[in-house]
Amino acid sequence: MLLFLLLMGIVGPHCTSARTHSMKDFYTASSGVTNFPEFVIVGLVDEVEITHYDSNTKRVEPKQDWMSNITDEDPQLWERETQIALNNQQFFKVGIETLKQRFNQTGG
Ligand SMILES: *[C@@H]1O[C@H](CO)[C@@H](O)[C@H](O)[C@H]1NC(C)=O
Ligand SMILES: *[C@@H]1O[C@H](CO)[C@@H](O)[C@H](O)[C@H]1NC(C)=O
Repeated sequence: MLLFLLLMGIVGPHCTSARTHSMKDFYTASSGVTNFPEFVIVGLVDEVEITHYDSNTKRVEPKQDWMSNITDEDPQLWERETQIALNNQQFFKVGIETLKQRFNQTGG
């Protein structure tokens, strides 16, 4: 019973700071898919999209209003993130070509 009460205390309303949050980046590389960019990165916090990059825009962009002031503190942030994304795009493009060769895939 004591253990149960302790557990109730841990997960109770006074301990909201113990809540788990998540941050995920999804990378999608493809070839020959119509109307879909060859490379896309979607950044999520708690399953809400916060950043987006794709090989058409070639820019990492914020997807939430509350992120727009972040450049007040870090003016180079989006430039830096964009460079990283461009490098990843190149890396994945080489990977797709390697896979196509290994699997004798001539189309997309
Ligand atoms: C963002 O910056 C603008 C202009 O400096 C300011 O009015 C606004 O309150 C800021 N928003 C946040 C969420 O800090
Ligand atoms: C790809 O083609 C080569 C040459 O025809 C063959 O030896 C190999 O097994 C093929 N690979 C696959 C994954 O089908």
